[in-house]
Amino acid sequence: MNRSVGIIGTGKAVPKTIFKNDDFVKLGLDTSDEWIVERTGIKQRYIGKDETSSELAIEAAQVALQDANVTADQIDAIVVATTTPDYPAFPSVACLVQRGLGITDCAAFDLSAACTGFIYALDVATQMMKGGGYRQILVIGVDMLSKLCDWSDRGTVILFGDGAGAVVLGDVKKGFGLLSSKLGARGQDYDKLMIPIGGTKTPLTAQNVSSPGRYIQMEGKAVYRFAVNIIVEVVEEALAKAHLKKEDISFFIPHQANERIIQYATEKLGLSQGQVYVNIATYGNTSAASIPIAIDEASRKGLLHQGDILVTVGFGAGLTFGTNVIKWAK
Ligand code: ACO
Repeated sequence: MNRSVGIIGTGKAVPKTIFKNDDFVKLGLDTSDEWIVERTGIKQRYIGKDETSSELAIEAAQVALQDANVTADQIDAIVVATTTPDYPAFPSVACLVQRGLGITDCAAFDLSAACTGFIYALDVATQMMKGGGYRQILVIGVDMLSKLCDWSDRGTVILFGDGAGAVVLGDVKKGFGLLSSKLGARGQDYDKLMIPIGGTKTPLTAQNVSSPGRYIQMEGKAVYRFAVNIIVEVVEEALAKAHLKKEDISFFIPHQANERIIQYATEKLGLSQGQVYVNIATYGNTSAASIPIAIDEASRKGLLHQGDILVTVGFGAGLTFGTNVIKWAK
C-alpha cells in the first residue's frame, strides 16, 4: 500500500534563560546589539544553563504527542536530529527520550546532519513508515550549540541559541504529507564549520583542553555564500520531484541562521514577506531545532492551512543541505 505520511502534531521547548545581545557586552565581548541585529536579525536567544538536550527534547515531544492526540506507547520509533547529545558519544538522545517518555518497545537513534538534521530526519522517518511499516514516529530536532561555543569568540557565540522542536509523523489523507525531499552534502568543505578537537582525529588531552579548537570554528563568509547559492537550487529540485513550481509554494520555512540569508532566498523564490516564517530575532540559530520550532509556531498561530504547500530548507556543517516539500495535512 502506498501510504501518505505527514505531520500530525507539533511541539517545542526552550531553556528558561533569555540572553539578550547586550548581555554579551556585559560579559565584556567587543560587540553591540546594533551590530548583531543589523548583520543577523538576532535580538535574543535562549541559553540552557541547567537544561540538557534530552530534557528539552522530551518536553517538546510531550507537547507534540498531545497535539497529535497520540499516546507514547503508540510511537514505534524515535529519530532525534542533534549534534549536541547529553553525553559525548553514547547513549543517544533518542534513547534518553524513550526512557523519559516511558516507552518500552521502540526503535531509537540519533542522526547527525548539523543544522540540516531535522530535514534529513523527516525524510528518513517518512521512508521508515512507507517502506518499513512503522506506525507513528517521533521526529525531534534538538541542539544546544551554546555549549560548544567559545564565549570569547564574537564571530560565532552571538549566532546560536538552544532549543528543541518535535513532530509526530502519522498517516494522513492520500496525497498529503511529505511529497518530496532533496538531501545533499558538500563534504569537501567539511572544514568551513567544525570543532577540530575532541573526536578520533584529535582526542581531548590535558594539553589541548583549553585550546580554541575545542569549540566551533567557522568561516562565516564561506558558509554564508554556500547557503545563498544552494537554497534556491535545492528547493527547485525538490519541487520538480513533486511536480510543483515555485509559484505553488504557500509557505516557506527556512533554517533560521541569518535574516539576510532568509531575505535573499525569499526574493529569489519570488515570495512575499507574509509567506515566510522568520523567528530568528527571538531564538537565534537553534541548529537542528530551528525548523521544527518554526513549524510548531506557524501551526499554532493558524498560519498553515490544510492543503498548503509548505517548503522547508536547511544548510549547515558538513556542509549539508536539504529541503522537504510538504502538503500540510493538519
Ligand atoms: N560584533 C561586532 N563585530 C563583529 C562581530 C560581532 N559579534 N563578529 C564579527 N565582527 C567584525 C569582524 O571582526 C569584522 O571586523 P573587521 O572588518 O575589522 O575585520 C567585521 O565585523 C565584519 O565581519 P564579517 O565576518 O565580514 O561579517 P559578516 O557580515 O560576514 O557577518 C556572520 C558575519 C554574521 C557570521 C555571517 O558571515 C554569517 O551569518 N554567516 C553564516 C553563518 C552561519 O549561518 N552559520 C551557521 C550554519 S548552521 C550550523 O550547521 C551550525
